Amino acid sequence: MDATTAKKRAKELQTILNQYNYEYHVLDNPSVPDSEYDMRLKELIGIEEQYPELKTPDSPTVRVGGAVLDAFQKVEHRTPMLSLANAFSEEDLLDFDRRVRQGIGDSFSYMCELKIDGLAVSLLYEEGLFTRGATRGDGYVGEDITANLKTIKSIPLKINKPLTFEVRGEAYMPKKSFNDLNAIRAENNEEAFANPRNAAAGSLRQLDPRIAAKRNLSVFLYSLADLGGTGVVTQSEGLDLLDDLGFKTNKERRTCADIHEVIEYVKGWTEKRPDLPYEIDGIVIKVNSLDQQEELGYTAKSPRWAIAYKFPAEEVVTKLLDIELSVGRTGVITPTAILSPVKVAGTTVSRASLHNEDLIREKDIKLYDYVVVKKAGDIIPEVVNVLVDRRTDEQQEFKMPTHCPACGSELVRLEEEVALRCINPKCPAQIREGLIHFVSRNAMNIDGMGEKVITQLFGENLIHDVADIYQLKHEQLIELERMGEKSVQKLLAAIEASKANSLERLLFGLGIRHVGSKAAKTLAQQFGSMDALAKAGMEELTAINEIGDKMADSVVTFFEQEEVGELLQELKNAGVNMEYKGPKPVSAEESDSIFAGKTVVLTGKLEILTRNEAKEKLEALGANVAGSVSKKTNLVIAGADAGSKLAKAQELGVEVWDEEKLVQELNK
Ligand code: IVH
Repeated sequence: MDATTAKKRAKELQTILNQYNYEYHVLDNPSVPDSEYDMRLKELIGIEEQYPELKTPDSPTVRVGGAVLDAFQKVEHRTPMLSLANAFSEEDLLDFDRRVRQGIGDSFSYMCELKIDGLAVSLLYEEGLFTRGATRGDGYVGEDITANLKTIKSIPLKINKPLTFEVRGEAYMPKKSFNDLNAIRAENNEEAFANPRNAAAGSLRQLDPRIAAKRNLSVFLYSLADLGGTGVVTQSEGLDLLDDLGFKTNKERRTCADIHEVIEYVKGWTEKRPDLPYEIDGIVIKVNSLDQQEELGYTAKSPRWAIAYKFPAEEVVTKLLDIELSVGRTGVITPTAILSPVKVAGTTVSRASLHNEDLIREKDIKLYDYVVVKKAGDIIPEVVNVLVDRRTDEQQEFKMPTHCPACGSELVRLEEEVALRCINPKCPAQIREGLIHFVSRNAMNIDGMGEKVITQLFGENLIHDVADIYQLKHEQLIELERMGEKSVQKLLAAIEASKANSLERLLFGLGIRHVGSKAAKTLAQQFGSMDALAKAGMEELTAINEIGDKMADSVVTFFEQEEVGELLQELKNAGVNMEYKGPKPVSAEESDSIFAGKTVVLTGKLEILTRNEAKEKLEALGANVAGSVSKKTNLVIAGADAGSKLAKAQELGVEVWDEEKLVQELNK
């Protein structure tokens, strides 16, 4: 085929295949048999192989998956991807309705949509072309999964109008695809996915897009950002517009005149839910008018104009076989229910934390009881209650021990605590947990040294404290069970690499009481080195905004211990870095900016800067950017739809600026 004919034919095939795709995957109404689609796709692949320049970014051939990636790039969301507040009962829905009516009066309607159980995605279109797709991440920063999303056939690669906008929705795996996938995995001796949500998320987190392409994922879009100029004034019209633009939306949506109609809709779907070809975990209820949405605004975490009704979690009955006790890193004794294995919401459950003795009393749990189990938030197994009626003379009272199950020393209950603790600093269980913490991902992040390896090393007496990790030798590691030459090499390299970590990782890893990873970062930033921090007194510590008395006291006490000094010396000798390596915030004295030493709170949606940019710029000028408004706050920057933080600032008489003013001042 000559180049001109090829160009013309490729264009024809791309257009017709995209049309077939749309009919099949969005409209659910194919106009040709699959064989015809396959034939034309094959033809197009052939032409594009011969003339690679004809493979445009919207060619249907990109759906088979492109090159394998090394890692996912981070994507900062221009407007944060918030989540919704939850409702679990009719009462919660009535409360929500009351709050809405307090805000906007009685004249409004609701839009109800199915809450698809998948993962939230953001799709960016530029001049009509799908250019970037991202996960929600933490709501502010997600991951670029464009290549994987392009394999989802219900996502249009190009739309009819050359518009630039972002759409959001839920990617999911239909029930049938999920069952087929797990059947294949079982045949190949691979672990089954627990539920379609995990399967969808797992598929989109693959670096090789050809895997996602084989997983039959789909998507429902539910919101379109930047509606200005489109004439759309309600959520319902927004969804209709998405339909018109060629996106797949869920058709089971309904506008409801009031909360009673909403409740009917919710009840209806509670019944009909099993019949759907995809999983839903609730109903999303939104105030329909966009103006009224804006009027209601947002709390720090979620819009006030919407709520997610969650269907009740599946509950099953099983037998409590035993109560196991474990000793945590800080000596806390935690009882865990050992259950006769039972399937709950897709996975087999055989353990559930009972948290503490009080909870066992409160729920009146006895050994060998029949108990009701569910997964809280559909994830964490929990004992809901005991079936008292099924008791026989078999059940036995459970007594918490008086002595540590690991070291035998007497347990104590500290003031105002529900937990029992082992306070023996030499308790082997605590030391082992401390070691596991030290190597964990947010601490020293030593890859390949998980709980199992630590337990072996500790059991073999090869490590007694964290400094011993840096003395481990090849010949010791190779002796361990399930450790080959390759794993040993890798592990030694990971240990070596961890020596270079910035100070905050080491600080967090040492497990100083009350010092979490965020506080460790603050301390590292402020003091710069372990030596400087070790010398700091109460006053110096509490002068830092985020460090309270309790934490300061704990830090001082930690460094006063002789053994700590010795341990740090050993780590130093081994070559472990003791300095902070990240960007240093400018101190108030060093900065001549008007922001120096000021405590600033950002709230609402920022439109010129992202939240991270604003934070970084302010910190670079010596400001402290805090999360909540208090008497200590000097300045609040209120973006669009600012809610309770703005109200609080006004109540306390704190100075408030809009984003434009902030940008002006930052540029000075
Ligand atoms: S609206 C401001 N509508 O449920 C947030 N969310 O916490 C607006 N979800 O992860 C979300 N179906 O991805 C909305 N029809 C629907 C939805 C839906 C599923 C997910 C969403 C988010 C979670 C809400």
